Amino acid sequence: MSGTYGPLMLLRFGSVPTLVASSSEAARDVMRTHKLAFCSRYLSATLDIISCGGRDILFSPYNDRWRDLRKVCMLELFNPRRVLSFRTVREEEVARLLRSISDQCGGHHAGVVVINLSDGICRMVNDVVVRTAIGDRCKHRDEFLHELDEAVRLTGGFSLADLYPSSRLVRRFSVAARDMGRCQKNVYRIIESIIHERKVAATRVPADRDDDDDLLGVLLRLQSASVGHVRACKEPTGAAQGAIRGFGVTARCLGQKDLKVAVLISGAFGAGRRICPGITHGLANMELVLASLLYHFDWEQPGGAGSGDLDMTEAFGITLKRKSKLMLKAIPRVN
Ligand code: HEM
Repeated sequence: MSGTYGPLMLLRFGSVPTLVASSSEAARDVMRTHKLAFCSRYLSATLDIISCGGRDILFSPYNDRWRDLRKVCMLELFNPRRVLSFRTVREEEVARLLRSISDQCGGHHAGVVVINLSDGICRMVNDVVVRTAIGDRCKHRDEFLHELDEAVRLTGGFSLADLYPSSRLVRRFSVAARDMGRCQKNVYRIIESIIHERKVAATRVPADRDDDDDLLGVLLRLQSASVGHVRACKEPTGAAQGAIRGFGVTARCLGQKDLKVAVLISGAFGAGRRICPGITHGLANMELVLASLLYHFDWEQPGGAGSGDLDMTEAFGITLKRKSKLMLKAIPRVN
């Protein structure tokens, strides 16, 4: 459509006017000219439900509360020293992924087994973020990931509730709104049970761990010191020699600078005042897993080399991901 109408189009989805900028120049101009208007995210009906009316940092309107949350993120949660302190967690989880791929290859001729890399990387990243957030792997992981997947799916569809957000009647009878309500309850229940367990544990055992060992500890410390408006209970929302059972996790083949420049240019972390505050954390994970997968295995498409381009069709949703799973043959290189 942008070929016909140009890089800026105003579309109307139901009763919602939607401006589509389909070139990076158009997006940059719009965001520069209307900086403040883009400092708050649009809250559709389904996003309003999952974020409890924008009470988390991601969907909070641009206001003093958001500034306080953002400050906590930048100064306390994702500063370079803290991200570095999670290096062992990253190395262990990447090694676990490599082992699981190697186990799947075991007993078969190299390249015969097709690996579901999408699910493997998703679990690995989730485990790193959760371990850095709460200090341990989460026993509700699969349920949590399922609910998050479902929430992303529900925000991507053209549900009636999102198309006619001002109609209470539509929202009341919308299946998407009902399903999102269920997701919200389950996600918050899991998060609250984690926080509850931590608080109970803290009263029972004399602290054998530092408050700052994980992000939840940092948030609870800040909360008890009454700094800012930290709403810890609602915030879910985080290389070279980790030799574990034969896997030396390595990040030698990619320069961090190259990766960072490539990712920032591609706009993967967004832009402006709401740019992702977890860039250092995210890049550290990506760099290590990518370098290790390439160092330890060669990868081929199931149909063999040259069997065409990867299908990069994107799924709808508030996060960007491939529609189909990335299935590849793994050929071990380093034992
Ligand atoms: C490769 C990994 C990651 C990518 C590609 C990514 C991407 C993004 C993008 C595109 C945004 C929206 C930016 C905008 O509106 O301009 C965002 C926001 C955000 N990200 Fe990330 N992110 C990643 C990792 C992380 C991690 C590890 C954390 C924390 C554990 C995190 C926390 C956040 C938060 C809190 C926001 C909302 C910021 C605000 O609205 O002020 N991200 N991220």
